[in-house]
Amino acid sequence: MRVFQGSVRADVGNIMYVYDHIGGEFDKYRSEIGLCDVLALIDEMGRDIHVLDLGCGTGHPIAVRIAPMVSRYLGVDNSAPMLDAFKQNAPAAECRLLDMALVARVGGCWDLIFSYGAICHLSRDGQVAALTAISGLLKSGGRLLFTGAEQEGHCTGSVGPYVDVIDHYSLGRAGYTALLEKSGMRQLWAEARDGGNFTYLYEKGANHALDRQRAVRTQACARPADGQRPPVRGEQMTVEIRQMVIADYDAAYALWSETEGMSLGDDDTRDRIALYLTRNPGLCFVATVTGGIVGTVLCGHEGRRGILRHLAVKRAFRRQGIARGLASQCLTALAGQGIRKCNIFVLDENPDGLRFWEHMGWYRLENNYRTLQHLTDARG
Ligand SMILES: CC(C)(COP(=O)(O)OP(=O)(O)OC[C@H]1O[C@@H](n2cnc3c(N)ncnc32)[C@H](O)[C@@H]1OP(=O)(O)O)[C@@H](O)C(=O)NCCC(=O)NCCS
Repeated sequence: MRVFQGSVRADVGNIMYVYDHIGGEFDKYRSEIGLCDVLALIDEMGRDIHVLDLGCGTGHPIAVRIAPMVSRYLGVDNSAPMLDAFKQNAPAAECRLLDMALVARVGGCWDLIFSYGAICHLSRDGQVAALTAISGLLKSGGRLLFTGAEQEGHCTGSVGPYVDVIDHYSLGRAGYTALLEKSGMRQLWAEARDGGNFTYLYEKGANHALDRQRAVRTQACARPADGQRPPVRGEQMTVEIRQMVIADYDAAYALWSETEGMSLGDDDTRDRIALYLTRNPGLCFVATVTGGIVGTVLCGHEGRRGILRHLAVKRAFRRQGIARGLASQCLTALAGQGIRKCNIFVLDENPDGLRFWEHMGWYRLENNYRTLQHLTDARG
């Protein structure tokens, strides 16, 4: 058994905790960064375009100006308080609450996708996945504009009263170009703009490398036994993550039973899970597709450390960001309750699970030995 630990501070969930707290006040801290570049692009591309704004925040100042000018404007953000302000500020725009790591879910075919101060909060691996997905959402000839440092690396930044707590990662100029060229994108320019903010502009060419990759990935998907169908190529799948309730028990237990690397015991009866949910309100989640459960996670804490358990995703729905979304919800909920670190126990005989957590940036706690005493035995 390995013990893994994740720092809540370093996770994107915690960034959202900060943004959620700043919420409607964010306008005070948001400069005009990006507005000139987006206006210049619209002058060049014309107004009959579809624009996707990733990390749209409260919509100030870009959506407020641009949404009424173009055919379609969609703002995406992972902060509900920010989006509440966005709806007020930019009534001409659509908006959607979504984790950037799940950007592929947006679907559509966009002329212009831009992201100011948002993609850079994802880890290196997260950016690789998100930028690859974003390239696939662009029309041929479409443009991608985003901020990220010129050099590869990591730093922390500040927003309002939150000083030096916001993580920023960059693949660097060469890294972004190497990655995006694989998706058929070419760099138009990369420059320090607006107050030293380093900005990249890419254009999608006629190379459909990404489409070919997707086709291969879709063919690799097995059809699930219960008839609940994974998405086929080009089809949109809407995944919803909501709090788990005891009425989900049967479907959740069925998923756990068919999940490799998951050990079930007398703590997994309906009564014990009901007790767990009551003891840990707002911390356990299920992911659903068309109402059916395709993923679960249980989470609790003892006032100091969080613990994640039973993170499982149905085979046919894997590698689409569902586990990331579930884990992120837990870390955000833990942060909301003042818990800053979280552990997970992974069986040695679950090498895939070990690789998954390492990939997610969690690290092994070496020299940790677990001991166990059954309370009923201890009483005797
Ligand atoms: C592990 C598990 C929960 C992952 O679910 P998932 O929905 O496929 O994971 P996601 O799509 O959210 O993946 C998030 C990231 O991890 C990566 N990843 C997923 N499974 C991985 C694995 N087995 N090894 C390495 N990386 C993995 C993904 O590529 C993705 O990376 P990216 O965001 O940088 O592109 C799922 O495979 C599962 O249910 N396994 C069995 C139960 C288990 O082992 N649970 C965890 C240990 S307790």
